Amino acid sequence: MKVIDAVKSRRSTRSFEQRTLPPEMIQEIENAILHSPSGSNAQESHFVIVQDEQQLRLIKRFAPGLSGDPAAVVVLCSNATESLIRGGIDTAEVLRFVNLGIAAAYILLIAHSNDIGNCPVRSFHRESIKKVLGLPEEIEPELLISLGYADMPPRSKTSKKVLEVISYDQYGNNH
Ligand SMILES: Cc1cc2nc3c(=O)[nH]c(=O)nc-3n(C[C@H](O)[C@H](O)[C@H](O)COP(=O)(O)O)c2cc1C
Repeated sequence: MKVIDAVKSRRSTRSFEQRTLPPEMIQEIENAILHSPSGSNAQESHFVIVQDEQQLRLIKRFAPGLSGDPAAVVVLCSNATESLIRGGIDTAEVLRFVNLGIAAAYILLIAHSNDIGNCPVRSFHRESIKKVLGLPEEIEPELLISLGYADMPPRSKTSKKVLEVISYDQYGNNH
């Protein structure tokens, strides 16, 4: 699938078949993570790929925003301490979140282009997820991405019009 086709056709999946992911798919996710860019190439983020059934059950319990029973959940984590050491103040304050957003996009598109349903999830109890994953104090879970085979077509969405979102050369110039 071309990247542009993946971008145009990806939708969030919230209902999954009871099927595990093949190891090649996990490798694709690892590739998406490792090849994702970061400011100053700081690579300060951490990612936990969860496939263990008991761990998934616990994550679901503490993530009300997570719908369905995904085969895997990727937990995208920021590391304030490492961000400061490797990237400086801008990375610690802002870029660690920007970097995670880019990594999230890579993961979502790689998953979709391999026909794996996916949904970003921010609605979860931070401290509980931290405890479930055994994250050290300085590592914070920022976003979950659920992954699995969709068992129904994702719902469609309405997008804003181009002129509502994009200006050309100067703010407010729509053409
Ligand atoms: C940062 C972020 C957090 C999100 N958190 C949740 C969530 O907690 N629960 C959920 O069902 N969807 C969540 N979503 C999915 C959005 O609702 C979804 O991306 C949006 O409605 C657009 O639909 P689409 O992904 O199908 O294009 C989140 C998306 C983003 C980018």
